[in-house]
Amino acid sequence: MYVLGIETSCDETAAAVLRGRRVLSNVVYSQAKLHEKYGGVVPEVASRNHIKKMPYVLDEALEQAGVDLKEIELIGATRGPGLVGALLVGLSTAKGLAYGLDVPLLGINHLEGHLFAHYLERGEEAPPPFLALLVSGGHTLLVHVKAWGSYETLGTTRDDAAGEAFDKVGKLLGVGYPAGPQIDRLAREGDPRAVELPRPMLEEPGFDFSFAGLKTAVLYHLRQHPDAPVEDLAASFQEAVVDVLLQKTLKAARKIHTRRIVVVGGVAANSRLRARFREECQRHNYELHFPSLALCTDNAAMIAAAAYVRFTQGLEIPSPEESLRLSPQPGLTLG
Ligand code: KG4
Ligand code: ZN
Repeated sequence: MYVLGIETSCDETAAAVLRGRRVLSNVVYSQAKLHEKYGGVVPEVASRNHIKKMPYVLDEALEQAGVDLKEIELIGATRGPGLVGALLVGLSTAKGLAYGLDVPLLGINHLEGHLFAHYLERGEEAPPPFLALLVSGGHTLLVHVKAWGSYETLGTTRDDAAGEAFDKVGKLLGVGYPAGPQIDRLAREGDPRAVELPRPMLEEPGFDFSFAGLKTAVLYHLRQHPDAPVEDLAASFQEAVVDVLLQKTLKAARKIHTRRIVVVGGVAANSRLRARFREECQRHNYELHFPSLALCTDNAAMIAAAAYVRFTQGLEIPSPEESLRLSPQPGLTLG
């Protein structure tokens, strides 16, 4: 079965074609450069550029896959969470295609999509149940994935998401948007113990996170030590985030009695996070999985995968009318 995926929840215009579980193409056009001068994503600019780029991204995905549009049998498009205008572009495109091709269209939860990045690479050998840590620019979630389609959120962030904290601290340190990859690089040259920073919520019961205070602590440190080496501050900040994510994840794994941990989302691309999780999971005998880097950040292959499984497992078989009635859900949550 050929599946087309479309993703436009934030500032990536993305389309992908799968044959069953196999990724035939996964095209992502990142608008990051357009938003960089504003220090973050400008929703209106994002929507307009999705409209501009979508036809090219779609063509490219089909061409790379060697698949004709008429061969597509199922479409999955992100319906939320995300920016309403951005979501609307992807959903409207998908509705037009589904109507024209007379194929089903599933509106996919972007957060569930991130979980399916794991399915694409390790879905057979490491199926649910497992504990997932989903860390992205918009979300920080600990999710008990009981089965595909069955999720229980154990904890979430009370303020900034982990990726958002990276981006805001990046702004303070004077690095461009998105700052995650740049802090990752800077931190390699710094000492993670150079600056003492808090580990928010670590001692509190439950599995919620909070990263806004950490960002403020970095701000205060910079005010008091304007000449502090940015590498040290980047490394110390990153270490604090990773410490909290790691300890809470291990605690949640103990609570739900699972030995399998999956880390997904843009921040799962962080090299220090990957190294520390590998080390600790090996030490405590947990089986650990990360998607490859291209599947950690926003992409449409993960959206197509979610549609493929939901449809073929009978979790969701929408009528043509239901597909056409889909509308963006900017505040959608998971489980
Ligand atoms: O999953 P994603 O592409 O989009 C959302 O759904 O939000 O995640 C983007 C976030 C950004 O905040 C970006 O700074 C962060 O992921 N990120 C990283 C790294 N690569 C991307 N954060 C830390 N280290 C990285 N290597
Ligand atoms: Zn995402």
